[in-house]
Amino acid sequence: MSIFRKKKVEDVLSASESQGHGLSKQLGVLDLTAFGIAAIIGAGIFSTIGKASAEGGPAVIFLFLFTALACGFAALSYAEFASFVPVSGSAYTYAYVAFGEIFAWIIGWALTLEYAIGNCTVAISWSDYFCSLLTNITGYELYDWLTMDYFTARDHAHSILGMLLGGVPLEEIKNTPDHAGKISGFYAWASAPEIFGIKIIFDAPALLLNLLITWLVYRGIKESKTAGNIMVLIKLAVVVLVIVVGVFYVDVSNWSPFMPNGIKGLAAGISAVFFAYIGFDAISTTAEECRNPQRDLPRGIIYSILICTVLYILIALVLTGMVSYKELNVADPLAYVFEKIKSLKWLAGVISVSAVVAMASVMLVFQLGQPRIWLSMSRDGLLPKAFARIHPKFKTPSFATFITGITVALCVLTMDMNMVTDICSAGTLFAFVMVCAGVMHLKNQPDYKPKFQMPYINGKWLFMILFVLFFILYYYLDKEMLVYYFKWESGKAFFSKMPFYMFLVVFGILAVLSVKQNYSLLPGLGLLSCLYMLSQLGYKNWLYFMGWLVLGLVIYFLYGYKNSKWKNALSS
Ligand code: ALA
Repeated sequence: MSIFRKKKVEDVLSASESQGHGLSKQLGVLDLTAFGIAAIIGAGIFSTIGKASAEGGPAVIFLFLFTALACGFAALSYAEFASFVPVSGSAYTYAYVAFGEIFAWIIGWALTLEYAIGNCTVAISWSDYFCSLLTNITGYELYDWLTMDYFTARDHAHSILGMLLGGVPLEEIKNTPDHAGKISGFYAWASAPEIFGIKIIFDAPALLLNLLITWLVYRGIKESKTAGNIMVLIKLAVVVLVIVVGVFYVDVSNWSPFMPNGIKGLAAGISAVFFAYIGFDAISTTAEECRNPQRDLPRGIIYSILICTVLYILIALVLTGMVSYKELNVADPLAYVFEKIKSLKWLAGVISVSAVVAMASVMLVFQLGQPRIWLSMSRDGLLPKAFARIHPKFKTPSFATFITGITVALCVLTMDMNMVTDICSAGTLFAFVMVCAGVMHLKNQPDYKPKFQMPYINGKWLFMILFVLFFILYYYLDKEMLVYYFKWESGKAFFSKMPFYMFLVVFGILAVLSVKQNYSLLPGLGLLSCLYMLSQLGYKNWLYFMGWLVLGLVIYFLYGYKNSKWKNALSS
């Protein structure tokens, strides 16, 4: 079937050469590693880690380790692919080569969740940090209606109004941790100006940052590179400082109980912790701007993930060691733990400033990644030609960059933070699963000869053994959870367990197929660990994600299928 038509690597490379020669080749291995770190260290470690630690307890360290391994295997697969097909499209192009057009489209579509929607998470977190910094430094507070999205304000205002009408005094609401965070939404709703009866409420700092970053990325990769490198240096210095100082304040009694809420508690933090690791893959979108992509891309990907993994595990140890995990459910956990120590309040201030810098640099890299994916999709005819337009002076994909900025702005105006974090993680995990599967599939093909290859360990019987070990380990770690999964329930409860069942089915099939296919172990472990995390993201997120994929497929059949440049390509 022609929806499975594949691209040949030679065709991809020559197409990118003839159409992509406009991109400026500026990046070396150091820049790529810096780009990776710029994309990885951001809202996750400065903000969402707090919620994950509060729910999972000190065992969140395991979650960091597990996620690092999963991302490490996925990173190796990305590195291998990037050395095989060094063009801008990243996972999108890899899927085109490995599985065919429809899968490529699905991946490209899912990557929009990672880059554009992920950037929305980053912009919103950035705005929160920025507003509190502004107040701390200048004493000036922005109007509430200029600091959040319309729907959050409306929902929070309705919730508070309900309580007030029910006779609960405002003071009491302010002092209840669960509701205190909603007060600013209430004020925003109450004080917002109106035009034609519609309340004007929007997150102005997030929009402003988006505008600035879009402009920077539009102007050129060279300017982006210099700005990115400076930001990386600042945030690395602060993260190391936190670890070095924090280690002296660790009280080991805080590490007990170690896993207070079982696997369920840990699973609640998956999307937050995973979000912290996302970003290394964005490096591969700059393939056509590298001086020597086949050598430098794999190195950049691997170095950046290694550096961040070490830093994250140390930070998680320090954080959960300095205070009780119960206290960590705050938006700025790193600053919070130091604010509690009188002599180290200054460090809390430094952390807040660097958080603002760190998040801006994540946004910079993601804002670079999204247009380059669309550029590749447009070259293939799956998106309109304008997305492949290269600016004659700045040598950047100008139209695609502009549309990225508009997309992020629209999301900032309409979506809430938790929702965007979860959906972004779902889209990214899905892309990782496909990239690992692609490498497993191609490794058995005779003409697959990438310049970088991860070690091959024959998974023949190993996947089968792992399948059995998985149940034993689960039983040992959290028996109740396993019993819950296998208790028969109908209706909604059954559907909520479906993602886990799907994971088991894929695992089982892989174990059986591997006996004959001798699948490579490492990408297989990447596939399984990312799929497991995906299966834990919650039923609602699966529904949103499926909705997004269905919308993508409708667009593909209405536009991409008919306009594909590879209409005559073979499907195998
Ligand atoms: N890893 C990036 C962050 O934490 C997306 O902001």
